[in-house]
Amino acid sequence: MELRPLPLSFGSPPGVAPWAFPWALLAAMLVSSPATAAGTAANAEVTWARDVAPLIQAKCQECHRPKGLAPFSLVEYEQVRAWSRSIRREVGRGTMPPWGLDPEVGEWANDPTFTPEERRRLFAWLEGGMPFGDEADLPPPREFHDEWSIGKPDMVFEMPREVTVPAEGVVAYQHFVTELGLDEDLWVQAAEVIPGNRQVVHHVIVFLQPPGGRSSGDGFTNTMLDVYAPGSPPGITPPGVARKIPAGSKLLWQVHYTPTGEEQRDRSKFGIVLADEPPRQILRTATVVDTDFEIPPYASDHRVEAEATIPRDATIYSFTPHMHYRGKSMDFLLVYPDGREELVCSIPDYDFDWQLDYRLKTPLEVPGGTRLRVVAHFDNSRDNPDNPDPSQSVRWGEQTWEEMMMGGIFLSWAEDGEAPAAGD
Ligand code: HEC
Repeated sequence: MELRPLPLSFGSPPGVAPWAFPWALLAAMLVSSPATAAGTAANAEVTWARDVAPLIQAKCQECHRPKGLAPFSLVEYEQVRAWSRSIRREVGRGTMPPWGLDPEVGEWANDPTFTPEERRRLFAWLEGGMPFGDEADLPPPREFHDEWSIGKPDMVFEMPREVTVPAEGVVAYQHFVTELGLDEDLWVQAAEVIPGNRQVVHHVIVFLQPPGGRSSGDGFTNTMLDVYAPGSPPGITPPGVARKIPAGSKLLWQVHYTPTGEEQRDRSKFGIVLADEPPRQILRTATVVDTDFEIPPYASDHRVEAEATIPRDATIYSFTPHMHYRGKSMDFLLVYPDGREELVCSIPDYDFDWQLDYRLKTPLEVPGGTRLRVVAHFDNSRDNPDNPDPSQSVRWGEQTWEEMMMGGIFLSWAEDGEAPAAGD
């Protein structure tokens, strides 16, 4: 396969549906659970209150809470008990919490997986009769502001109107504009889309349209404010980094609905938490895409590769793979100006059900001229249980039975740090 240098793209160039994900430090998810007595002394009784509640809080409640993404809540002791058999199965198989990264590559700030000790602790409890323990040991409940994971938003915007989604058929992407009416710049520390109706909302992307309608022309942009898709964490920026919403900007909504067999209504909303002070760095997004591939019928391991050059010294914060049902794996590699090549993020077993964003524990500083190479593999064979039709040859397209090949990254320019809050 020929290697094609591609411009980094963003926004909605014709025929290119953008898909990159907000950086966020899922601060709460990272609450590391204390290694407890039970973890070290094998014969101590493992209890809910002291040993297991902190684990479930840190690794499951982001989604499993009232009004959360998951279909049931794991907040109360009784709820966790009631789900214990499935929890044992899903955690045992490694399907919950969802993650999917090669553990040998990189260290991740939002890695929700269990350490061996935490796993032993959870299973000791599940197999030891699930004792409650001492109420006094219970950690304070993890706080959520209503349905928001970002805390209480400073501003909330609704889609301009409610949408009626038909029972059947294919619904084209819907686009809406919200006038913000701001007369001063805002610095956004966290942003989150909340779908109005999770049954039909496949994804929502909220873009920023700065005044004049243009952003920086080099493909690196701060215009993607947040994405909602299953499993995608809210856009919370790392310390000292923020997104900028210039005065006079508009919000552009891109909403994708998947009919459910019954007519449904949706009015999604978008909330932001403002930064306390202007940041040192401006968060930008970019996607490396190949829109020109063709996956032959029945091909089980079709390789597609795309590459882009990072033009200036930069700090990379996170990686967001995006493919559809035939997506099998994706690797992100950096090729440094001196020719050295480094695998920085590897998703060996991609799952379309989870649109995750992999945030580096230590952001990567890269010199200008470094190339970002994204290598994807697709499985269009019968052996792929998600494959809607192996007999089709598959090309780029917005709908899920078509394919995408997109590697998103979040980054900032080193030079922004020298000129705080300048430009976009
Ligand atoms: C990123 C969001 C997210 C996180 C984090 C998460 N879950 Fe889930 N979980 C879901 C969603 C959504 C479903 C329903 C869809 C599905 O089954 O795949 C689910 C389903 C489940 C199921 C039911 C599976 C079945 O088919 O019976 C169990 C059990 C479960 N989760 C346990 C956990 C546990 C335990 C944790 C923490 C260790 C956890 N989950 C973390 C989103 C999440």
